[in-house]
Amino acid sequence: DWTMEHVVEMEVEKIRDQVGDRKVLCALSGGVDSSVVAALIHRAIGDQLTCIFVDHGLLRKNEADDVMRTLGDGFNMNIIKVDAKDRFLSKLEGVSDPEQKRKIIGNEFIYVFDDEAEKLTEIDYLAQGTLYTDIIESGTETAQTIKSHHNVGGLPEEMELQLIEPLNTLFKDEVRALGTELGVPEHIVWRQPFPGPGLAIRVLGAITEEKLKIVRESDAILREEIKEAGLDRDIWQYFTVLPDIRSVGVMGDERTYDYTIGIRAVTSIDGMTSDWARIPWDVLEKISTRIVNQVDHINRVVYDVTSKPPATIEWE
Ligand code: XMP
Repeated sequence: DWTMEHVVEMEVEKIRDQVGDRKVLCALSGGVDSSVVAALIHRAIGDQLTCIFVDHGLLRKNEADDVMRTLGDGFNMNIIKVDAKDRFLSKLEGVSDPEQKRKIIGNEFIYVFDDEAEKLTEIDYLAQGTLYTDIIESGTETAQTIKSHHNVGGLPEEMELQLIEPLNTLFKDEVRALGTELGVPEHIVWRQPFPGPGLAIRVLGAITEEKLKIVRESDAILREEIKEAGLDRDIWQYFTVLPDIRSVGVMGDERTYDYTIGIRAVTSIDGMTSDWARIPWDVLEKISTRIVNQVDHINRVVYDVTSKPPATIEWE
């Protein structure tokens, strides 16, 4: 597509003009926006770009490895991966309030990022994958008060870096097209939205490693089956949640008393409103059977059939 090729050329020129021979830092999350912004800047200035990827231990199964393989090895990008799992989990220990969890994770993310950034020298710019819609939404009161996004205005205070936000005039579909033009693989370009606080807000209440594992494993099964059924592009978001309830079940001759997993799958245009996805029953059945058989401590699977409003997409 020559139009996108042209957009890439123009953006690359702009970045080169602005940055010259200076250095740029980028916080990579593995999501669509930060991956595309990193790929674009990398196309423009190569090794003058350094990315920091904070693994907070709240990512989905294989996610961290995938980011490192695809962008680090595949694009030959400089990526510093910070394994900060222990740091995050210890801060989150015993914390059950959702907004408190968000605050802790948002703050800790900045501290970890800061600690790493301080080790680097001569950085002048910070690249962010801010989209046009992020700017608009952050301006509205509801977006700020209902749930705080932490990718806008999250600049560490003492860092005197200039921001580059090359995607800030683009909509999501344009970012996807740009990513595709840059050779970012489909599974990243079409990745479903994933919240910054990650699995922390999908383990309801206080987080434990065991509970994180349950969510991670069940989510991996769900994702596999949704893809297998060819539904991954039709459903806006799909994931599992672990409410803090146990119920009675039976396995073989044994009575069990174990956790329930909730499946959330919604269709949406922008995440502001959503409808529950009409996943075919046989697909749900397969998912349910696999989760109960393959994930320890789950003896029941339920499907969330509420729209937004009145429910939110996430359970926390
Ligand atoms: P809700 O649950 O508010 O979610 O209906 C709407 C969209 O926002 C995502 N979400 C978040 N994203 N930090 C994020 O970066 C958050 O704290 C957060 N909370 C919700 C959610 O996954 C959905 O796409």
